[in-house]
Amino acid sequence: MPSRPIGVFDSGVGGLSVLRALRAELPHEDFVYLADSGFAPYGERDEAFVVARARAITHHLLHGEDQPIKALVMACNTATAAAIHLLRRDHPGLPIIGVEPALKPAVAASQTHHIGVMATRGTLASQKFKALLASLDGQAQFFCQPCDGLADAIEHNDTPNISALCARYLQAGGPFGVHPGEMDTLVLGCTHYPFARAQWQALLPAGVLIIDNGAPVARQARRVLTHHASEDHIGQITLRSTGDPDLLAQAASRWLGLTVSAQSRHL
Ligand code: DGL
Repeated sequence: MPSRPIGVFDSGVGGLSVLRALRAELPHEDFVYLADSGFAPYGERDEAFVVARARAITHHLLHGEDQPIKALVMACNTATAAAIHLLRRDHPGLPIIGVEPALKPAVAASQTHHIGVMATRGTLASQKFKALLASLDGQAQFFCQPCDGLADAIEHNDTPNISALCARYLQAGGPFGVHPGEMDTLVLGCTHYPFARAQWQALLPAGVLIIDNGAPVARQARRVLTHHASEDHIGQITLRSTGDPDLLAQAASRWLGLTVSAQSRHL
């Protein structure tokens, strides 16, 4: 009997940065990726809206047209912050893995103990993020910048706008650099932002470390999976979008080298 797929979702194409890490870590698994692009961006919406979307998508992945998923990866910091505790309560038997801004790894890596955090407005305003910050009180100074518009620019591969927004948001904080008092670590706390890595890198002084969460999330997914696919199986990817499926297929081709067409779904 074939193994059931792992469901992965984001507000749009950003979660492909997590899917990339998941495929590297779990090459035999099948994945169904749902981009909720028809309802993106999540980061500038209220929490109730994001919770409703997370519930509708999870329902589709469990009771839609495929075999029910065997695990869910919320490849979205904003949705994780708003809804992971509710989805876990709704589906106690389903392993659910979320993403959160990689503050703890940043504290471990930073020499200057000054850290920049780029994330959506929704993530930064969430109770979950505030609790994470509070748990690290005294260990570093964090500069947290909401990046309105950036996920949307990445969603549409709008390169000039991506560069302009990265520059604006980096300049908003204290100086980046490796000298005392400067921020030597930048946390990308939204799964869209790793796809602007080249732009961040070009704007930052040498030596500043950029951290995202794709690989640790993929390792966590491996740990919590109770049923693994057979090692003879080559993992298949299904792509679905509530918005423009071509945008998703193009992003998957550009960033993951996938030649898979994407299906349109109305949820
Ligand atoms: N990629 C998402 C995240 O990790 C959300 C982007 C958005 O829709 O605003 O937060």
